[in-house]
Amino acid sequence: MKDAFGIPQSLLVLGGSSEIALATARRLVARRTRTVWLAGRPSPALDAAAEQLRDLGADARTVAFDALDCASHEEVLGKVFAEGGTGSDAGDVDMVLLAFGVLGDQAHDENEPLSAVRVAQTNYTGAVSAGLVCAKALQAQGHGSLVVLSSVAGERARRANFIYGSSKAGLDAFAQGLGDALHGTGVHVMVVRPGFVRTKMTAGRTPAPLATTPSAVARAIETGLVRRAELVWVPGPLRLVMSAVRHAPRPVLRRLPM
Ligand SMILES: NC(=O)c1ccc[n+]([C@@H]2O[C@H](COP(=O)([O-])OP(=O)(O)OC[C@H]3O[C@@H](n4cnc5c(N)ncnc54)[C@H](OP(=O)(O)O)[C@@H]3O)[C@@H](O)[C@H]2O)c1
Repeated sequence: MKDAFGIPQSLLVLGGSSEIALATARRLVARRTRTVWLAGRPSPALDAAAEQLRDLGADARTVAFDALDCASHEEVLGKVFAEGGTGSDAGDVDMVLLAFGVLGDQAHDENEPLSAVRVAQTNYTGAVSAGLVCAKALQAQGHGSLVVLSSVAGERARRANFIYGSSKAGLDAFAQGLGDALHGTGVHVMVVRPGFVRTKMTAGRTPAPLATTPSAVARAIETGLVRRAELVWVPGPLRLVMSAVRHAPRPVLRRLPM
């Protein structure tokens, strides 16, 4: 169960080795979170992430989860919800952080449609499947938050990353609609739209204006949970920037250095 400030006692991360997700998990563990499930493709990085959270005092476990294997989601995630948290919270997952995603390589993917499809299937189809499975389980509990890592890239398609951007646009629209569908059920859906975040996903790329860090995203997620926000921009001023970008004529947008 969440505390009076909206901080979860148990957390399920989809994309368990994501740097943004781990910064968020560390922050929440420092507050009140006791059980953390890291769902992801088995790897030394996933195991190391769980170990790091255990060192901070959490009961951290890993579970094999592949966003692309939609047929397995009901069973894999169903088991996590069946086991849930520990102690007085047994059976509950208070928060799901949907953090998996791939950036792809725009130039390469334009020439290799199957690579582009992999980006779309991971970021959109995988999220639709896992998101609906988790939403159903949260609804059965009658409470909990589903926090979805969208992106400013989904706000307006751009030449430089329209394959990734379109997958995030789909994810963002899906998550907003799901939030409306769950309104009044006790389940809260929060869409998080970060700009450029310095993580392994963006390593080697030139930072965009207003570039930020995983810990800044984690802080914004915590604040959003406390406020029960439906939409969070990170950093906050991106909301104003993107409201201008949203209405920019396409010839202007094509010349923007981002
Ligand atoms: N970094 C940014 O600038 C930025 C900005 C806005 C939004 N975001 C979004 O924030 C989320 C987290 O990104 P990040 O920066 O933390 O990147 P990251 O550290 O590269 O994390 C991405 C995560 O996605 C997982 N993943 C990829 N394909 C998967 C699959 N088929 N099944 C299960 N897990 C899979 C990766 O697992 P593996 O270890 O198995 O590869 C990794 O845990 C992503 O959705 C991203 O699109 C990032």
